[in-house]
Amino acid sequence: MKTKIVKIDCLNESTLPIIKEASEIIKNGGLVVFPTETVYGLGADGTSSPSAEKIYSAKGRPSDNPLIIHISKPEDAEVYTYTNEIYYDLARAFMPGPLTVVLRAKDTVPLKTRGGLDTVAVRCPENPIANKLIELSGVPIAAPSANISGSPSPTNPIHVIEDMQGRVDMIIDGGECEFGLESTIVKIDDNNALTLLRPGKITVDDLLCVADEVKIADAVTGALREGEKVLSPGMKYKHYAPKTEVILLEGEIDKIVRYLKENSTKNTAVIMYSEYCPLLSESLSDAVLYDFGSVYDKCEQAHRLFNILREADKKNHNAIYAPLPDKCGIGLALYNRMIRAAGYKIIRM
Ligand code: TXA
Ligand code: MG
Repeated sequence: MKTKIVKIDCLNESTLPIIKEASEIIKNGGLVVFPTETVYGLGADGTSSPSAEKIYSAKGRPSDNPLIIHISKPEDAEVYTYTNEIYYDLARAFMPGPLTVVLRAKDTVPLKTRGGLDTVAVRCPENPIANKLIELSGVPIAAPSANISGSPSPTNPIHVIEDMQGRVDMIIDGGECEFGLESTIVKIDDNNALTLLRPGKITVDDLLCVADEVKIADAVTGALREGEKVLSPGMKYKHYAPKTEVILLEGEIDKIVRYLKENSTKNTAVIMYSEYCPLLSESLSDAVLYDFGSVYDKCEQAHRLFNILREADKKNHNAIYAPLPDKCGIGLALYNRMIRAAGYKIIRM
């Protein structure tokens, strides 16, 4: 398939026709990759089973792993789900933005799109290109992250093109995604309780401003055990993982440095907070350092994580070492992605 690649710096009169063209592709059952504030999405008509099928096949994704449907206004969820008061409380606080809400589905969403579940995940993105594309398409856009299944989500056009050129009709290059990790996902149960299925930029503390209680699904912080019930099907698949082995190090920085001195070779990659990079480059002249951003700036770390994992993976390192993040605030999203990228390999010093 020939993929049209178009660059859009911002939404204005001269770029609107490109978004119109993309919306025609969606309406006609095609695939469009578009930027969002979290990661790039691989979009198609969320009301069409054949379109959902095309997404699963372009990504190489198991079809029991449901898709998020993207809407341009929170109230559009009415057409596709059974909403309730807490949905609107969340919408008022966080939409448009990096929050996905799982609700009971209506028949307007085909089973293919929702991976056979009786629920569906909805998200209203803030990125103006994404939001306009959905509005002009006139249908919700089903969109998983635009990576080949299993690899880190793409946060910039280079990674999108690497994974999706030749597999989709159009790629909209909107530059780097602002946040860089996928949206926070919460499920609203029938009794109105909130469960966090995937942590993201909207933190547990943010959610607690709206809800009295937020349960955290076990899979957010740990590996699923054999036979355990999965709340979010995506959690059971290997995810965010580069081909190179990732190993997380937990402990004080001097112990980490000592460990790396003994265990790294000139082919080893080390992801490290900016403040400690000078110390490491002095002590480990052989290893290749990747600057993770300031230890105090979790947004910057989120922005860099998938980029670093993808770049490091191209260099044939024998291993990628990284510090284990704490679970506070946005740290929980970093922790969740990194333990999975590492296949739960953590060395405690
Ligand atoms: O930031 C994001 O959410 C990006 C952008 C493109 O919007 N999308 C994204 O989609 O990350 P995806 O498909 O890569 O991840 C969605 C996750 C999957 O793990 C899936 O299993 C879960 O959401 N999910 C989707 N529908 C669900 C449902 N009805 N119940 C529980 N989990 C669901
Ligand atoms: Mg994904």
